[in-house]
Amino acid sequence: MSESVPSSAIDLVAPAAVRDPHAAFKMLRALAPIVWLERHKAWIVVDFDLVRAGLTDERLSTDTITPLYERLSPEQRAQYADAETLLRGWMIFNDEPTHSLLRQPVRSAFTPGAVAQLSEEIAELTDRTLGSLPERFDFVRDVAFPLPAGVIALLLGVDAGRVNDLGEWSKQLGALVMGKVSRPDAWGRALAAAQEMQSYFGQLVERYRKEPVDNLIGRLITASGEGQEQALTPEQIIGACSLLLFGGHETTTSLLTTSIYHICLNNDLRNVSTAAEADVAAFVEEILRYDGPSKIFVRRVREDLEWHGVRMTANQPVYFAVAAANRDGAAFDGPDRLVPDRTPNRHLGFGWGAHFCLGAQLARLEARIIIPRVLRAFPNITLDCDREELTWHPTIVGRTIRSLPVRSGGMGESPSAPYK
Ligand code: HEM
Repeated sequence: MSESVPSSAIDLVAPAAVRDPHAAFKMLRALAPIVWLERHKAWIVVDFDLVRAGLTDERLSTDTITPLYERLSPEQRAQYADAETLLRGWMIFNDEPTHSLLRQPVRSAFTPGAVAQLSEEIAELTDRTLGSLPERFDFVRDVAFPLPAGVIALLLGVDAGRVNDLGEWSKQLGALVMGKVSRPDAWGRALAAAQEMQSYFGQLVERYRKEPVDNLIGRLITASGEGQEQALTPEQIIGACSLLLFGGHETTTSLLTTSIYHICLNNDLRNVSTAAEADVAAFVEEILRYDGPSKIFVRRVREDLEWHGVRMTANQPVYFAVAAANRDGAAFDGPDRLVPDRTPNRHLGFGWGAHFCLGAQLARLEARIIIPRVLRAFPNITLDCDREELTWHPTIVGRTIRSLPVRSGGMGESPSAPYK
């Protein structure tokens, strides 16, 4: 570590920092734009321009699987073999040129047109879900968790009877991705979930090869036919499906939950229910900036280097604190205020550079459809607990409320009213 660079003993998964990461980031920002975290043995970058620079710097790798693998015992490595193959095939954990080879075919199959086609089905799914809710419910368990799983099922052509499995698999996979080896129960469940998921997606790929369909898997199979330039192997298609599930589920759950949480805290935001589409869109972008699902993106130093005045050593992790960058006063006026119609809003909630979120349009579409519908169905929705009782998942990378008890306050418009 360079001597002139400050370090901090802060623990980013301690309860206070999980509850209010922005206070923690503020403290770090007061120290320096790049700080060494003693507790995590990692660098953290909190400055907007530096976070953007880091996310496009090829000297920093997204391969965080290798360091995890190196920590495993021979026995754990043997248990982890299949899951490792799966995760190594995820574009997010690959640098160029492999990253582009894995991303391009999925990008071509995941077109804006294909996403827009899902609008009506998302609206119908939302209405069905909202229509069956009691007066008091948990917004996470009953709305924000099942809906994105249902949408990914539509995207991939997953059988209706397996949608609950999707939610469960994506939840369990977290332990693998975060490398929670020290929690054998979670680790074991994650390995089992990965196996079950691989087997199911394998059957689905086989089925859609025999009976061609126009869904994302079908388009990937067609694009990977003989002689095609953007071919993926069946294993890579399975890998892509599992990444879309993992990348698109908890993040969207978080965006929907946080949106309703802030609306419950601030009555002025309730007019999102009747706002024009552009205003709903601006509100969603502001939630992504102000309190979005992404907290930190992790990169790994490939070789010793001098990075913006700091000497970094090969294999050190670098935490790009996107949540801090999104509240950098040099990039946003009044960064700690939630301004629902903020324009422009150059937030980094979907990342930046080559790994920019592939599902951003889908996530936006879901939020723009679902949030106004919730508010029109339940105009008086309120928190059904003391705000202080809420807790967030204790992870370094993301920000997700565990459970959001609400009271619907009685039905408003029929949830089947058209969205406009
Ligand atoms: C609000 C919801 C979402 C948020 C906040 C979000 C955020 C992100 C971020 C920040 C990244 C880049 C991570 C990095 O650079 O390390 C990313 C990548 C990715 N996201 Fe999302 N995401 C969301 C929803 C989705 C959805 C719905 C899907 C697909 C169904 C999806 C699929 C992906 C994929 C495949 C990547 C990897 C891209 C690559 O490595 O080239 N995401 N997402």
